[in-house]
Amino acid sequence: MKILAIETSCDETAAAVARATANRIIIDSNIVASQIDIHQVFGGVVPEVAAREHVKQILPVIDQALLAAGLKPSRASQELDGLAVTVGPGLMTSLLVGVETAKALALAWNLHLIPINHIVGHISANFINHNLNSINFPLLTLTASGGHTNLLLMHNPIHYQMVGQTLDDAAGEALDKAANLLGLGYPGGPKIRKMAKKFTEQHRPPTIKLPRPMLRRTDYNFSFSGLKTALLYIVREDHNWQNHIAEYAYVFEEAVVEVLVRKTIKAARDLKVKTIALAGGVSANERLRSDLKSAVQQQLPQVDLLLPNMDYTTDNAAMIAAAGLLKARAGLTQNIENIIAQPNYPVK
Ligand code: KG4
Ligand code: ZN
Repeated sequence: MKILAIETSCDETAAAVARATANRIIIDSNIVASQIDIHQVFGGVVPEVAAREHVKQILPVIDQALLAAGLKPSRASQELDGLAVTVGPGLMTSLLVGVETAKALALAWNLHLIPINHIVGHISANFINHNLNSINFPLLTLTASGGHTNLLLMHNPIHYQMVGQTLDDAAGEALDKAANLLGLGYPGGPKIRKMAKKFTEQHRPPTIKLPRPMLRRTDYNFSFSGLKTALLYIVREDHNWQNHIAEYAYVFEEAVVEVLVRKTIKAARDLKVKTIALAGGVSANERLRSDLKSAVQQQLPQVDLLLPNMDYTTDNAAMIAAAGLLKARAGLTQNIENIIAQPNYPVK
């Protein structure tokens, strides 16, 4: 089975071709047209600007994905078995471009269309190139992105149960806001990482302390907006803050990562899972990847850890293709008339 997947939920126009063998998902092409340069000027994503860019990019990106997978666009209807598209959550004006393009192509090529939840896509990135029969369930996923932070419990590759989520800002959003506060620009996660690394190279302990929100609570929810405010107050009081940016970046990243890791370990232990998987744009963060790996090795050595390949961490369509193939494998299809862009699409 071979499908074309489309992702336009935020500011990346993406298309990918992937296929499923009996027990493996293989990516044949993965094209992402990033709009970062365009939105950087505004310090964040401007929905109207993003939509206009998607309109320009969507067909060239699809063509590129087909060609890179060795398929002729004129023969796509014969060579593909279906299409998958992100229907939400995301920005309505961005989602619409991908969803309506996918519907038009599905009708023209007479192919099934599989609607995909963006978060499920991020999680499915973990299953690419793995022997699907060797993944042990129950599995707990930590998804940390610019729009979402949650813990989901899975008993198989297509069903999800929410066990915890952020009550305010997402982890990526908090990193973006902290970077903005420190004058580092957009997107903040990678900029904070770079500055935090600089502080590590100074080989001295940090002098600033930030809180660790929600760690005393027994539930699995998160809250990051107070952390950002705590940083704001400290920076405001510091007349020499420009000289301490690396240290601020370090302590902020450390606080976010520590809360994410400790809550995940606690939930994994309580829920007796066999595997932990990391997903979302923040899963590109080296500190989060290495701290989670060490915590699992030390505290839950019997639990498997899945980390997505770096190419599939921030928004892309390979992850949507993976989710589409998993749904198709389970025989889940939907009538095209019922497939619509849904900005608040729940995980299910
Ligand atoms: O998944 P994603 O590409 O888009 C959403 O679905 O939101 O995630 C984007 C988020 C942004 O907040 C960005 O700052 C963060 O992921 N991010 C990172 C890194 N790369 C991207 N955060 C920390 N470290 C990174 N290397
Ligand atoms: Zn995303």
